[in-house]
Amino acid sequence: MTESQKTANLTVNGESYELPVFSPTAGPDVIDIRKLYGTAGVFTYDPGFTSTASCDSTITYIDGEKGELLHRGYPIDQLAEKSHFLEVCFLLLYGYLPQADELEQFETTITRHTMIHEQMHYFFRGFRRDAHPMATMVGVVGAMSAFYHDSTDVGDERQREIATHRLIAKMPTIAAMAYKYSIGQPFMYPRNDLDYASNFLYMCFAVPAEEYEVNPILSRAMDRILTLHADHEQNASTSTVRLASSSGANPFACIAAGIACLWGPAHGGANQACLEMLEEIGSVDRIPEFIERAKDKNDPFRLMGFGHRVYKNFDPRAKVMKQSADEVLELLGIDNNPKLQVAKALEKQALEDPYFIEKKLFPNVDFYSGIILEAMGFPTSMFTPIFALSRTVGWVSQWKEMIADPQNKIGRPRQLYLGETSRDYTDIEGR
Ligand code: ACO
Repeated sequence: MTESQKTANLTVNGESYELPVFSPTAGPDVIDIRKLYGTAGVFTYDPGFTSTASCDSTITYIDGEKGELLHRGYPIDQLAEKSHFLEVCFLLLYGYLPQADELEQFETTITRHTMIHEQMHYFFRGFRRDAHPMATMVGVVGAMSAFYHDSTDVGDERQREIATHRLIAKMPTIAAMAYKYSIGQPFMYPRNDLDYASNFLYMCFAVPAEEYEVNPILSRAMDRILTLHADHEQNASTSTVRLASSSGANPFACIAAGIACLWGPAHGGANQACLEMLEEIGSVDRIPEFIERAKDKNDPFRLMGFGHRVYKNFDPRAKVMKQSADEVLELLGIDNNPKLQVAKALEKQALEDPYFIEKKLFPNVDFYSGIILEAMGFPTSMFTPIFALSRTVGWVSQWKEMIADPQNKIGRPRQLYLGETSRDYTDIEGR
């Protein structure tokens, strides 16, 4: 982090304070307010963190105005096109594109950690069969903290690395088991001869009674979905993982906190909500009615899969996802998917509507991912668990970066207190 010559001046109650300004390698300058309370006795106020940089990071960069997403400097569309998920995992974790032998070793390590402790099967069996798979994942991933004692010394770099590998390797197994449990089918053990995406599809869709061959088209599409969701800077779930971990807590428990945050419909739950919305709209002629509802301030309805806190332009991931949806449906011979027709018409009509233009509301990554996942055979309840599986690498990369940072201290925001001031307790008879 380089301190520029620039400073910012703040006047509080007639008193002027000069604040240092840091210049990033890309993006807006950052005013350093760390000493503000100590010198000026005031806090800053930014409840949704819309103008606050909560950390410094070298992993992911987003330019929301341009619609640009870079991982370690590499544009997401190039990674989606030329790379594959495990190589992107390596890139996010270690900061550079691996040599062939490094990649091979990394893939072997991940592949050889895919099984979960046999005892963990009992955790699954404790859940109701109709539990949402995200609820099951929060519980089971949190329970991993009880199994991997050797990975709980977060001060040890090697143990941290093993924890990151375990989480990336075991998350597909856990997500697939959550799915199998919900439909009453036996768990499928991972297969080490399959690549990451194929193994996940196998664990979800194979049954012990017969041979199962993974469709390479679906495997490639799944790998692309995983790649597109791998990391996204300091979003709500990543910030949750960072905040939970800032106390030095067990990483498996902290990732469970990230999964809990991701579940919400304003975040990872949007892909499920989006497909349900497309289903509810049902046909192209009903789109105007739903667009009017989305614009009505008295109606809580929002167009799911539209809008983003950071992107005020096309979400670059949505572009790749749209192309992928077209390809997958065509290759599977599903030419006339009604939801895809509604999605395309809805996108077109919304993008021409002054309300959406003025508010810079564009389709986000979740707008098309659900259509692909449904075509693969996943129920909507599995969409967010698949997002959690892909985002795990982002969470652990950000966690690894934070713990290794000597400046890391426990996250402890302050508040604008609007409650009662000090008052005396009254006995119950006198109230
Ligand atoms: N439909 C209709 N209006 C919308 C939508 C939408 N999808 N999104 C935002 N708006 C409107 C808001 O009503 C608001 O209008 P106002 O200024 O007149 O009050 C304005 O646009 C700004 O919206 P905010 O909610 O203040 O923006 P914020 O940055 O807080 O929200 C969010 C971003 C949560 C993603 C929002 O756009 C949304 O709810 N979208 C639908 C859910 C969704 O798709 N989430 C996925 C996000 S991507 C991800 O997590 C992978």
